[in-house]
Amino acid sequence: MQIGSDAAALRAQVAEWRRNGERIGFVPTMGNLHGGHLTLIDEARRRSDRVVASIFVNPTQFAPGEDYQSYPRTWTADCEALRAHETDWLFAPDVGTIYPDGPGLRTRVEVPELNDILCGASRPGHFTGVATVVTKLLNIVQPDLAVFGLKDYQQYRVICRLVDDLSLPVEIVGGAVARESDGLAMSSRNAYLQPAERQRAPVLYRTLCALADRLQAGETDFERLLAEGRARIHEAGLTVDYLEIRRAEDLAPAGPHDREWVIPVAAYLGRARLIDNVRVTRP
Ligand code: PAJ
Repeated sequence: MQIGSDAAALRAQVAEWRRNGERIGFVPTMGNLHGGHLTLIDEARRRSDRVVASIFVNPTQFAPGEDYQSYPRTWTADCEALRAHETDWLFAPDVGTIYPDGPGLRTRVEVPELNDILCGASRPGHFTGVATVVTKLLNIVQPDLAVFGLKDYQQYRVICRLVDDLSLPVEIVGGAVARESDGLAMSSRNAYLQPAERQRAPVLYRTLCALADRLQAGETDFERLLAEGRARIHEAGLTVDYLEIRRAEDLAPAGPHDREWVIPVAAYLGRARLIDNVRVTRP
């Protein structure tokens, strides 16, 4: 595995691979890699001849007071994991490479319809930071496909939308949510949980599954379902940020006639803000 912080060197390599007829897959990350990230690497590997990963803790997607400074950085273990999963190139730029004029953005990529809802409502500016850095990373790497986890479902939709709207020549692939054996979605932020909190955290996925079952069984009173779901999460000691039933395609409020729904949730538990979702196909 080549490791580099230099965008030009990576581009030259990608261009050479492409001249040889190879297909390039890309997985952007912020490091502190866990099983969820690694399933995305494996997915990229299955679909391409070369796999590029990036590790860049992107300052512009953290709101003031969030965990940018303390975000877990585990460089040596990350490199080992990427090597073990046959990554060809690890791009690990420093902040100055991505933001030569500092992280105050002069040019931004924004997806207005998705920007301020759900996670965007409690994390102002977050999706602008994500959309802008992902656009930059896609332009630097120029992959044929890029894999994003469905765990961050709103992020996945933001990226699909910007790629469509800006005509970026890349295929976006959604990778399944990787979970611990008790259902908790894997996340770097799970490390913030104290043991007693960690035991309570699976209530999120259990609640989502229960709601999905009831939707699939034909229940249509969304508000009642959501009120019960919020109460269950609250009783387990978590503070619900949101629990909603939305249209999977664009996260607009769901109606009974949509084909596919998503149930996204965000909740605070100790120092952690946990998110998860399940998708439901209408019966
Ligand atoms: P990060 O949180 O490091 O996540 C990198 C990728 O891993 C994202 O596509 C995320 O959705 C995916 N991922 C995280 N946990 C997962 C899980 N349990 N199952 C499946 N996939 C999972 O998301 C980011 O970084 C950043 O916002 C980034 C896209 C790199 C832009 O800075």
